[in-house]
Amino acid sequence: MLQHDVVIIGGGLAGCRAALEIKRLTPTVDVAVVAKTHPIRSHSVAAQGGIAASLKNVDPKDSWEAHAFDTVKGSDYLADQDAVALLTQEAPDVIIDLEHMGVLFSRLEDGKIAQRAFGGHTHNRTCYAADKTGHAILHELVNNLRRNGVTIYTEWYVMQLILEDGEAKGILMYRIEDGKLEIIRSKVVMFATGGYGRVFNTTSNDYASTGDGLAMSAIAGVPLEDMEFVQFHPTGLYPVGVLISEAVRGEGAYLINSQGRRFMEDYAPSRMELAPRDITSRAITLEIRAGRGVHLDGSPGGPFVYLDLRHMGEEKIMSRVPFCWEEAHRLVGVDAIYEPMPVRPTAHYCMGGIPVNTQGRVRLSGDRLTEGFFAAGECACVSVHGANRLGSNSLLECVVYGRITGRNIASYVQDRKFSDFDAQAYLEGAKQRIESLLNKKGTIRLGALRQQFQDSMAEHCGVFRTEALMKEGLAQIEQFKAQYEQAYLDDQGSCWNTELIEAMELQSIMVVGEMILTSALNRKESRGAHSREDYTKRDDPNFLKHTLAYYSAAGIDVQYMPVVINMFEPKERKY
Ligand code: FUM
Repeated sequence: MLQHDVVIIGGGLAGCRAALEIKRLTPTVDVAVVAKTHPIRSHSVAAQGGIAASLKNVDPKDSWEAHAFDTVKGSDYLADQDAVALLTQEAPDVIIDLEHMGVLFSRLEDGKIAQRAFGGHTHNRTCYAADKTGHAILHELVNNLRRNGVTIYTEWYVMQLILEDGEAKGILMYRIEDGKLEIIRSKVVMFATGGYGRVFNTTSNDYASTGDGLAMSAIAGVPLEDMEFVQFHPTGLYPVGVLISEAVRGEGAYLINSQGRRFMEDYAPSRMELAPRDITSRAITLEIRAGRGVHLDGSPGGPFVYLDLRHMGEEKIMSRVPFCWEEAHRLVGVDAIYEPMPVRPTAHYCMGGIPVNTQGRVRLSGDRLTEGFFAAGECACVSVHGANRLGSNSLLECVVYGRITGRNIASYVQDRKFSDFDAQAYLEGAKQRIESLLNKKGTIRLGALRQQFQDSMAEHCGVFRTEALMKEGLAQIEQFKAQYEQAYLDDQGSCWNTELIEAMELQSIMVVGEMILTSALNRKESRGAHSREDYTKRDDPNFLKHTLAYYSAAGIDVQYMPVVINMFEPKERKY
C-alpha cells in the first residue's frame, strides 16, 4: 500500500494550486497528485477567455464589492454570499501571485495586465492570455509543483474514495498503462476532479470530463449540491460543440440570426451579447425554435445562429482571439475574418457539485462535515456560482479556493493520523469489478450505449425543461442501467485498455445524470440555468435554497439547505 500525508485527485488548476499552497506553507508535508491524464492535459488547459479580478487596470471604478454583486446577481441570488465575498476579495492577490510565478498575461500599452469585458460583469475585469488563459496558468502551476517536490501519479484512474463513517482514509486507483491496482492511504483526500460535460452529447469539455469525482463521492454517501444547474455556453461551434470563447463577444463580436439581426436586443437590451450565459443560451435556443436559425447552406430555419466577427478586423481577431479563429478554420472550414461562425449552446460547466464549506471541507449534510475530505474547483460546490456562473469566474474559483483549501489542509493535516481500514477487501472488490466488466457477455456495444445516454440527457435536461420531459429522461435512465448489464467490451486486456476506462466512466456519467435529472425535477421553479417551461418564474418563498441530493442504488433522496445571504437582498434580475 502506498502512503502520502495528502492525496489530491485531479491535476487541473484547483488541484495544482492547492498542492502548491500546502508545499509552500509546510514543505515537509508529503503531497501527491493523482491524475487520469497528464496534468497539463487536464481540462483547465482548455479554458480560453480569462480570469476575473477587480485589478482596476482598465476601469478604476471597479471594486471587489462590484465584482461580488455582479456574481450574486448572475447566480440568480442562489450563490452563498460569504463564499462570493472571499472569492472576489482574494481575486486581485491571486492574479498577482500567478504573475509572479511567471504566467504570461496579455498586457496593456502601459505594461499592466490587460482586462477585457465579459458577460454579466459591469466592469472590464477579465485578465487574459489571448484566448489561451487556462493553458498559460496551468503550465506554470505544473512547473511549480515539480519544483516543490509534489509526487505526481500520471494516468491513474481513481476508482474509489475510501470513506468510512464520514472519514476519508485514502483512495483506490487503477494504472491505465498496465491495469495495476493500488491503494493510497492518506491523512487527507482532496478531490479536484473537474466537471461532467460528457454527460451530454454536445459539450465544450474534454473526453475526460466524466464526473468521476462526483459519482465516487455520491456512491460513498456524500450528498451532491445543486446538480440541476448545468451551464450551457451560448457559443459552442456547430456541429462539434467546442468552445468559442465569450472573449470573442467581449472583444466586440455580434450574435445574429437568419435575418441578419442582432437579436440580443430582444432579450437583454442593456447588455446585448454580453448578457449572462443562461439568458444568452435561452435567447439562441428561442431564435432557433422560432425558425430564425440558419442551415449550413445559409438558408433560414436551421439549427444554429451566427457569431459575426467580420467588423472586428484581422488584426484584432488574430491578436485577441487567435485560437477561436483557428478552431473555426480547422474544424468547420470557416475563416472568421470573412465569414460568420455557426454557433449554438453547448454543455459547458457544472454549477453544483460536492458540497464544501468556505474552507474546502466536504459536507455530509447541511450541518455536518466529513473528516479528512476536501474538494475545490468545478467538482466542488462552495456555491459562488449559484444557479448561473459568470464567465471568467471559474478559473478564479479554482485558484482562490484551490489556495484556500490548500492553506486549510496544511494546518488540518498537522493533527491528523493515518487511519486503518481493510485494504485487502477494497482491492478484492476492485478486482471483481474489473473482472466482471472485462467478462461481460452481452450484445450491446458500450460506445453505442454511452452515445444513447448522452443524447437522452441532452433531450430531457437541456436549456429548457418540463416535468414530462424529465420524467421520461429518468425512465430512460432505468433502461440504460439495465442495458449496461447487457453491454460487452471488445478489449479484454490490461494494457492501456481505454474501453475499460470508458466502461467505468459510463457508470460515473449515469450516476451524475440521474442526480441532475432528479434534482431538476424537484426544483419547481425557473432560476438561472434551470429553466422550466412548466414553472416559468423564480419562486423565492419555496426555492431560495440549495438542493442536497443523496444517492443510493434504491433511489435518490432530495433534501435542502439554506442560502447564505449577508450582503445583497434578492431582487428581480434584469439586464
Ligand atoms: O468563454 C470562455 O472563454 C469561457 C470562460 C469560462 O467559462 O469562464
